[in-house]
Amino acid sequence: MSNIVLGVCGSISAYRACDLARDLMRAGHTVRVCLTDSATQFVTPVLFETLTGNPCLTDTFEEPIRGRMAHIDWAREADLILIAPATANTLNKVANGTGDDMLTTLILAAQVPLVIAPAMNPVMYTHPETQASIPKLARQGTFFIEPTEGDVASGETGQGKLAPNSTILEAVQTILSKRELLKGKTILITSGPTQEPIDTVRFITNRSSGKMGDAMARAAKLMGANVIVVTGPTNIPALANATTIPVTTAEQMLQACRDNAEQADWIIGLAAVADYKITHPSDTKLRRSEENVNLTLSPNPDIIGSLAKENPTKKVVAFAAEPTEDPTYATEKMRRKGVSAIALNDISNPEIGFHSDENEITLILKSGDIHKSGRKTKLACAMWMLNILVENP
Ligand SMILES: Cc1cc2nc3c(=O)[nH]c(=O)nc-3n(C[C@H](O)[C@H](O)[C@H](O)COP(=O)(O)O)c2cc1C
Repeated sequence: MSNIVLGVCGSISAYRACDLARDLMRAGHTVRVCLTDSATQFVTPVLFETLTGNPCLTDTFEEPIRGRMAHIDWAREADLILIAPATANTLNKVANGTGDDMLTTLILAAQVPLVIAPAMNPVMYTHPETQASIPKLARQGTFFIEPTEGDVASGETGQGKLAPNSTILEAVQTILSKRELLKGKTILITSGPTQEPIDTVRFITNRSSGKMGDAMARAAKLMGANVIVVTGPTNIPALANATTIPVTTAEQMLQACRDNAEQADWIIGLAAVADYKITHPSDTKLRRSEENVNLTLSPNPDIIGSLAKENPTKKVVAFAAEPTEDPTYATEKMRRKGVSAIALNDISNPEIGFHSDENEITLILKSGDIHKSGRKTKLACAMWMLNILVENP
């Protein structure tokens, strides 16, 4: 089945990782365990080696095969990395890209789904640094299995108990089952805002952060697709193992999409494309004066509508940022643009949308079916949406 690297940290619940390793093996997976130094104070490599039949790693400079860097080999051979239990220390280190032991180094070298199941004292869990790491991890595409509430070993009651092994196993199985759903498909995604120049130094744009487009690209990659991202200017780093085409204006975005549409099976438009551009941008910097300045705007091309018309056999999906959750206008927009589906984003709710790490989507299909995601991380929303699109060819 799959190769799973199980990371075990220095937590009281490290003992639960022994059963978890066996549960994963019973589900047909090969399990290799990487322990942090602190974890070895609670459980031993010998225990896991005997349970899994595979050597464990602990020290960064261990080389079970002489001359081969074990962290690279394990990272390349893994289908999924699961840290259970994850301590506050390791969780915060992973969120910040630290690689100062074998487990965190291995994670930095891997490009496979990472699942983190934390276990800690409730005060450590609610610590601002730990809480700040959680959305950071979500942005990096990490799957987070929330600890449960209850009494912990330190005598307190609160959120911090390692989730039940059955929950962790189910999450791993779900993630692995989706890995192949989009295998062989190429998905073209537009993302971010566009910038329309006023002169050589000024432009008009909008509040799009590109986070939802990035989440969609990550979700499509996690589900096995080849991904091409045509993105306006954002602060989001390019996704590894995907093609990223940076553009600035709506016209450049349309051209880049047209250049790549032929190889795409699906096209998903998440970019917040400026509806208007400056009709005659100045080719020098406009000087300040006491006079009023009138800027004339002309309509930009309808990117997703044009792509839908030019590619009638492909699945083309639009996003509609609307100040309402009423699907009437989005449904009309779907019909007008001739797309296969439209995802409605209610931007009147400040807790979701533009710069937020969470979203809530109403997905309207051409058939008239309406699906509601409920509040989820943007990555989870994207996976939910791709799943429905696979099931509704
Ligand atoms: C008895 C004991 C139990 C601990 N349990 C936890 C725990 O459940 N969660 C946690 O985040 N830290 C726990 N710690 C603290 C970590 O072991 C410590 O922060 C360590 O540096 C973590 O290292 P690691 O992340 O490399 O495994 C515990 C410490 C002790 C002494």
